[in-house]
Amino acid sequence: MDRIEEIIALMTTRGGQWYGREAITLEQHSLQSARLAELEGAPPALVAAALLHDIGHLLAKADTGEGQARDDRHEAIAAGYLARVFGPGVAEPIRLHVDAKRYLSATEPGYRAALSPASVRSLGLQGGALAPGEADAFRAQPHAADAIRLRRWDDHAKDPTVKTGSAHDYLPLLRSLARRG
Ligand SMILES: [Fe+2]
Repeated sequence: MDRIEEIIALMTTRGGQWYGREAITLEQHSLQSARLAELEGAPPALVAAALLHDIGHLLAKADTGEGQARDDRHEAIAAGYLARVFGPGVAEPIRLHVDAKRYLSATEPGYRAALSPASVRSLGLQGGALAPGEADAFRAQPHAADAIRLRRWDDHAKDPTVKTGSAHDYLPLLRSLARRG
């Protein structure tokens, strides 16, 4: 089994657990995120980032998703792992997707009020809204805009009625993005 097959296997086995306190599994949430990225015509690396953005919850072997009692730093775990497989176009938006929520909470009126209760709870564990200086520093990072796009798909990928395909459908996409050697 190569790295890409390992990632798919992780999603289809451990991803079957509930996504924290949301009404869907982590695998469904991941597939819905990727689908929203595709519907918006996102480039392949960003579709992959949407699909894999929460894989850190599975790699962390901690409680899944947003029901956790502590912040598991899943974005850093995923980014460190995925940077070796795919490079920054996939890994960096994922590394920044939690800070993107903290950024939008600080800068966009109504954003916080529209979050799910579980997501509001995890926002507190993750440090809350960014301070003004922190928000400027976030926005100045090269992959901040992609992280904000990813964040919006993430926030909307929690619908228990949406039907998705399988993680295996993304095997060719992930293979095309993987680093050689
Ligand atoms: Fe997510």
